[in-house]
Amino acid sequence: MTKKLYIKTYGCQMNTYDSEQISNLLSFHGYSLSETPDDADVVILNTCHIREKATEKVFSDLGRLKPFKQKKEEKLENMILAVAGCTAQAEGAEIMRRIPYVDLVLGPQTYHRLPEMLAQLNRKNPQNRKIRLVETDFPVESKFDFLPEQQTTPQGSSAFLTIQEGCDKFCTFCCVPYTRGAEFSRPSHTILQEARLLVSKGVQEITLLGQNVNAYHGKGRLETEEWGLGRLLLELAEIPNLKRLRYTTSHPRDVDDELILAHKNINILMPFLHLPVQSGSDAILKAMNRGHTADFYRKIIDALRNARPDIAFSSDFIVGFPGETNEDFAQTLKLVNEVDFAQAYSFAYSIRPGTPAGSMGNQIPQTEKEERLQILQHLLREQQIRFNNLWIDKTFFVLFDRPGRYENQYIGRSPYLQPVHVRSSENILGKILPVKINSVFPNSLEGQLL
Ligand code: SAH
Ligand code: SF4
Ligand code: F3S
Repeated sequence: MTKKLYIKTYGCQMNTYDSEQISNLLSFHGYSLSETPDDADVVILNTCHIREKATEKVFSDLGRLKPFKQKKEEKLENMILAVAGCTAQAEGAEIMRRIPYVDLVLGPQTYHRLPEMLAQLNRKNPQNRKIRLVETDFPVESKFDFLPEQQTTPQGSSAFLTIQEGCDKFCTFCCVPYTRGAEFSRPSHTILQEARLLVSKGVQEITLLGQNVNAYHGKGRLETEEWGLGRLLLELAEIPNLKRLRYTTSHPRDVDDELILAHKNINILMPFLHLPVQSGSDAILKAMNRGHTADFYRKIIDALRNARPDIAFSSDFIVGFPGETNEDFAQTLKLVNEVDFAQAYSFAYSIRPGTPAGSMGNQIPQTEKEERLQILQHLLREQQIRFNNLWIDKTFFVLFDRPGRYENQYIGRSPYLQPVHVRSSENILGKILPVKINSVFPNSLEGQLL
């Protein structure tokens, strides 16, 4: 009999990829995915720790799951409640202490051992004592060597593929080096193999993932060879029937000449790049330990625009980092005005316990952070609307990957990742088709098939 597995995914695309791997792995052990947690045999929260709000959400969701677990127990059945991902890694002990009905805590690098852990938890133990497990060590083996080939076709025609994990950059605000561990690049042949498998199952667009994806330095074709991301992209672009390539998230410091050339020479590499800068002030960039200046960022943007004139950029910003003055913030606005982003994410600085910036003395009051965030978001939103408006009456190719809310409506992604809505009486899911844009909204475009 198959058991029911429910997974809730928080945070970044890396977690989405991990959740897909977990459900694939457990499908070999008799678990099938369930849409709701109510009657599940195993519930996994794949968590994010990046900002305080993300972590709070995990604790409040755990509270909501308690009655489901109790109901199962009243029926003399069991629900294993597991917390995985970055909050699990960072606060495993705290979760176990605060939430006594959590059975299992496991970090992002140990989920290949899940079948073993679940078997252990399911085994009747002689004293009938409740077992609880915490698996947050960074194992010597790589989970990628133990994960089975993906069996199910990924949803839609677009798939994620993790090529690099972890981070050695230690930006002073960030928890990722502690939650994901040291930087690790998968050997290129395993990546090419996984990409070919995805394409053979109908995938047309692959987004390469890494916390620091352009720090990629994996084993090449020869034992002695090491490939950077630029070289890897060239090889992936050779896969027949692969129509689109993307990668995320990059660090400005790791944009090398080979990668810039890749943008010039690889047609299927989409002309859209998410390149977080965080701040436009050199003093703040230094305090953040980003390892580059604002001018360095401008130069990279220029070089990429020279290589690929139709490229557009997205970024991440943090406002209210400890010590940020009005002048520092003005520098950020200046940079935004100069670069002109197609889209961007911006956040108020959030203290992450255990990170260097968390214990800096010159914290900015919350109200000030919120004020700056509003100003920045207003500017970024204006730029996004302006960028979207450029496409009115123009035509580009859209990859349709989901049905819309209304009958005969389909939603796809433009080369710039904008959601594009069209009507079609024919099912166009999985197709890449030319669309002429008629109307523009802040977060999406509407057009007609040509
Ligand atoms: N690896 C990526 C980003 C990972 S986290 C990179 O190096 O850019 C995604 C974004 O969350 C970051 O770019 C940053 O803007 C934001 N972020 C990270 N830590 C934060 C914190 N403590 N407070 C607010 N935002 C944060
Ligand atoms: Fe975090 Fe910086 Fe690493 Fe990005 S580069 S994951 S922001 S430490
Ligand atoms: Fe969150 Fe971990 Fe991703 S902290 S953003 S899930 S790497």
